[in-house]
Amino acid sequence: MSQDSSAAATASNNNVTLTDNVTGKQATFPVRTGTQGPGVIDIRSLYAETGYFTYDPGFIATGSCESKITYIDGDNGILLHRGYPIEQLAENSDFLEVCYLLLYGELPTGEQKVKFDRGITLHTMLHEQMANFYRGFRRDAHPMAIMCGVVGALSAFYHDSTDISDPHQRMVASYRMIAKMPTIAGWAYKYSIGQPFIYPSNKLGFAENFLHMLFATPCEDYEINPVIAKAMDRILILHADHEQNASTSTVRLAGSSGANPFACISAGIASLWGPAHGGANEAVLNMLHEIGDKSNINEYIKKAKDSDDPFRLMGFGHRVYKNFDPRAKIMRETCHSVLNELGIENEPLLELAMELEKIALEDEYFVDRKLYPNVDFYSGIIFQALGIPTSMFTVLFAVARTVGWIAQWNEMIEDPSQKIGRPRQLYTGQPYRDYVPIKTRP
Ligand code: CMC
Repeated sequence: MSQDSSAAATASNNNVTLTDNVTGKQATFPVRTGTQGPGVIDIRSLYAETGYFTYDPGFIATGSCESKITYIDGDNGILLHRGYPIEQLAENSDFLEVCYLLLYGELPTGEQKVKFDRGITLHTMLHEQMANFYRGFRRDAHPMAIMCGVVGALSAFYHDSTDISDPHQRMVASYRMIAKMPTIAGWAYKYSIGQPFIYPSNKLGFAENFLHMLFATPCEDYEINPVIAKAMDRILILHADHEQNASTSTVRLAGSSGANPFACISAGIASLWGPAHGGANEAVLNMLHEIGDKSNINEYIKKAKDSDDPFRLMGFGHRVYKNFDPRAKIMRETCHSVLNELGIENEPLLELAMELEKIALEDEYFVDRKLYPNVDFYSGIIFQALGIPTSMFTVLFAVARTVGWIAQWNEMIEDPSQKIGRPRQLYTGQPYRDYVPIKTRP
């Protein structure tokens, strides 16, 4: 096939035939269908049969794996974990039950739930030497920077769960990761504000314990408000997994080389940190502070619409959801119940956020492009209301997403068709040329 050829695809009987319009040569590829959603063209033999690679920056149309964990229908605003809709899980379940579901594929029986909760609780403490590790960071280090370092360092402390070929070790690493993440996050926060580390308390539930480690001090207990603990648990559920997003794909890619699970999750945290992904909840608050007052909203909306201006409205838009984000809908309700419980619905920054939401939902630019408020828009506002500092927002996302990362990592390791991830490229650099000695260069 020649390089300047164009190709046309036609689908028939569960396969797709690609015709090279210059040479007339044809190649047929099977279409695989899942339980829901569009089918995928299996192009694994494409290069062998045609001499072409595919080109898809940002993986807009590329499936990277087969998965049974999470299903998203972005056009209809549907999110299912192991088949269960997120709305029902957020309403009826708790975070640890969702963790069990993501890891094992089914909801637990009563007995399994008790055993699982206990199993996670028994792993909440960190190796005491890890406290020294924190002290190596600058006092004003960003908590996400601390998270990347400390989570990666877990592999130096827990050698007995790094053999990825052993299913038992993989599960121990999974429990450790889910259990220790709130402790690591709580300590990152305490370190950044110069307070002593607070140890986990095994008599508390997962979300309660996390709040305790964030807000208690050795001289004062943290009084747990059940509305806030419930809201935190719900936030964790809503962020638990989201199929092949950037950080999950990063975890899978890192893991595809056989790297240990702690290193892979650390890579996921690094990817999550970016403002286009998990960093958006922090960016929302920074943006609200920058806008400052309702009277400035129009100016910022104008900036967001200007294609020559890099400014984007943080917390709006989603790669997959082009209707609405079902998590955002639940988060919006949670947001209002938290603000109501705390009696701060009239706080100026929150009023500003609500005004921005209203304008963006009505503005033609946002409506035409289906740029709805996403989960990060509301989570940022809730975290602000709970008194959590902005720099911790993405850390909270990481605590919740850890179970998704680890479930996807386990699935990948167990997949017999798994290979090291190795994308191809369209090379546009210099063609072959001979080395020119320095003395003879122009
Ligand atoms: N503000 C202004 N314009 C936007 C925005 C925004 N937030 N998002 C997308 N657009 C415009 C974009 O300029 C483009 O316009 P045009 O067609 O005229 O060139 C059009 O909408 C399509 O955007 P895109 O960049 O092709 O969409 P994408 O799927 O590549 O990007 C996104 C998705 C989430 C990165 C993007 O919407 C964005 O940057 N949003 C703000 C950051 C944010 O809130 N991220 C959190 C995502 S949800 C949590 C998570 O999954 O991590």
